Amino acid sequence: MYRIGREEVDAISEVLLSGKVFRYGIGSACTRFEERYAKYLGIKHVMMTSSGTTALTAALVGQRIGPGDEVLVPACTYIATAIAVVAAGAIPVIVDIDESLTLDPRAVEAAIGPRTRAMIPVHMWGLVCDMDRLMAIARRHRLAVVEDACQCVGGGYKGRKVGSIGHAAGFSFNYYKNMTCGEGGAAVTNDDAAVPRMGCMVDCCKFYWTDRKTDESLFISNGARASELEGAILNIQLDRIDGMLDIMRGYKKRVLAAVADTGLRPIQANSLDCEAGTHVMFVLPTEAQASQFQQITGSGIAGKTGRHVYTEWDPIFEHRGAPYEAMNPYAMEANRDCRMDYRKDMCAPSLNILNRTAMFGLHPDRTDAQIDDLIARLRKGAAQVL
Ligand SMILES: Cc1ncc(COP(=O)(O)O)c(C=O)c1O
Repeated sequence: MYRIGREEVDAISEVLLSGKVFRYGIGSACTRFEERYAKYLGIKHVMMTSSGTTALTAALVGQRIGPGDEVLVPACTYIATAIAVVAAGAIPVIVDIDESLTLDPRAVEAAIGPRTRAMIPVHMWGLVCDMDRLMAIARRHRLAVVEDACQCVGGGYKGRKVGSIGHAAGFSFNYYKNMTCGEGGAAVTNDDAAVPRMGCMVDCCKFYWTDRKTDESLFISNGARASELEGAILNIQLDRIDGMLDIMRGYKKRVLAAVADTGLRPIQANSLDCEAGTHVMFVLPTEAQASQFQQITGSGIAGKTGRHVYTEWDPIFEHRGAPYEAMNPYAMEANRDCRMDYRKDMCAPSLNILNRTAMFGLHPDRTDAQIDDLIARLRKGAAQVL
């Protein structure tokens, strides 16, 4: 959470005092947010959901990804990316990242097998994937691309907003994200044909409240409907996002310029002007140097956050895909030929990069003095370690 305050409190009060907390109805804050966010992203359809995980699952199901399908996911992401694949009934295949800390296009191409139907490029830590190359691969192999934009709300790639480039995408608005309403998310797509299935994943009871007709898009799913309180908060957060990201992008460029002569190597940027700019990161030559650099500068290490590397995905490694074995995608006959033999060393190149990457989170409310202090620590670290 970056900024939240009086305006959000007023917006929630207004909703509560109106007595209309349910999202369907005239003058809905959720509908207003969905329309505004669609315009902001430059995309046709936005559906608010209860979380980023449900948004990604809805996006996958909208693309008809399910049992029998493999979905390529990066070795560096929160487990929810892989969970969304399993929740859709499909099997995640873990693929190496490169020094952008996002999917390595060469590794993606090498990982495509007869069962591969989709990939999830994850715009991790506010960074953006090499979408031109990934989309070209997807076109060649007829893969669906579902962007995981949960950690990059408001970020862009070469002038387009992330989430609007693939066939569908999921955003998270949980506490840690660039826009937050506590918990929440959005599934988005330009694909008209995906909308009924995506919508049914978000709220399979919606037909009672909107358009009651029976078609193939009606099936049972878990409810992931958002509330008007979330919609009200997000309308305020959306007004703020660009200003905050501009400040962080500016800080990031200032830091990078100030250490350019030190020998520190910034991670590869796929679209520095447009990414969200929430983190500054450097790849050190060795793990030992990264750890020494961490001691001196107070950085984090990308491979050691405890939850952003595939080796931490216990239920995926243990094939615990559902509460009942008969519902477990890992045990389904349809998935028998999917690759699910996970090993902790299967993406050793990714581990090597992540364990050498020092990271610093930025914040729009940092002062100039704090940025100067960060620069001084980086220069000191570089002088002592490189
Ligand atoms: C990359 C990524 N994908 C998906 C999610 C899931 O979002 P949520 O926690 O809203 O379900 C997160 C949440 O932290 C995330 O970081």
